[in-house]
Amino acid sequence: MLKAENIHVDLGRKTILHGIDLAAHAGRVTAIIGPNGSGKTTLMRALTGEIAFQGSATLNGVDIAGAQPWQLAAMRGVLPQSATLAFPFTVHEVVRLGLTSGIMGADGGDLVIEALKAVDLGGFEARFYQELSGGEQQRVQLARVLCQVWEPLLNDVPRFLFLDEPVSSLDIKHQLQIMRIAADYAARGGGVLAIMHDLNLTAAFADHVVLISDGRVFAAGKPPDVLTSGNLERVYDCPMRIGSAPDGNGMLVLPDLAAAQPIDHQNHASGDWNDATSGR
Ligand SMILES: Nc1ncnc2c1ncn2[C@@H]1O[C@H](COP(=O)(O)OP(=O)(O)OP(=O)(O)O)[C@@H](O)[C@H]1O
Ligand SMILES: [Mg+2]
Repeated sequence: MLKAENIHVDLGRKTILHGIDLAAHAGRVTAIIGPNGSGKTTLMRALTGEIAFQGSATLNGVDIAGAQPWQLAAMRGVLPQSATLAFPFTVHEVVRLGLTSGIMGADGGDLVIEALKAVDLGGFEARFYQELSGGEQQRVQLARVLCQVWEPLLNDVPRFLFLDEPVSSLDIKHQLQIMRIAADYAARGGGVLAIMHDLNLTAAFADHVVLISDGRVFAAGKPPDVLTSGNLERVYDCPMRIGSAPDGNGMLVLPDLAAAQPIDHQNHASGDWNDATSGR
């Protein structure tokens, strides 16, 4: 279990997180949602031990701030929001970085291939990472994380995937594929903490949702209790409609286009962008 209490983070001279409480249980997909700049990535960086914070955070009872890097690496894998590589690594080399020596045994070669297949990149091993598309690179990074914590349980102790916007660059098929990997990881006993912007995927795949606003938890609970039009309108400043899927299974979360603020063309400086898009 991941347990965080009263997390405060200061970056520069600004307080970014103002006392966040969060619990992410093994066996569940926990989604963190919230607007740009609300503090989601900062929270994840604190909970992965990457940045200093005040408050208490434990992963399976281990104090995150005081743990050794190898201790954390054995228990959780981290997919950052963006990852750039300075050197011309092949896909195989990037995914191999996820193998934690001493845990996998052998050279983990088969696991690299397996992980790449899992993210639909079978056959990409020899390609150069920098020559891949944005979505392909994102899936390579996920394969690297999967390689690191392939088995959701290590000696019966749950491992965790920390995923910062894992599907942000992906097409619809691969969004589903990656969310299914996350859900399957949780179903097999691991834990998943995923930052999401897609509210429909959140409704479909999350067991628990934490809605962040201005560095504070605005609401937390099951998707139907958190993804209400009232909560979302307040936090995202956007009129929303909540409905059910056409087959009656699951929720639909949509912006209310009719109620959304129209663009004020009179006060738009030149209207150039509109001319450009209409080809005039
Ligand atoms: N290194 C830093 N120094 C100063 N301020 C920072 C730093 N990193 C982030 N911030 C600020 O902290 C706030 C939260 O940033 P964070 O990256 O956590 O947002 P987020 O919720 O992940 O947003 P997004 O959805 O755009 O990824 C922002 O206002 C950002 O400008
Ligand atoms: Mg972010």
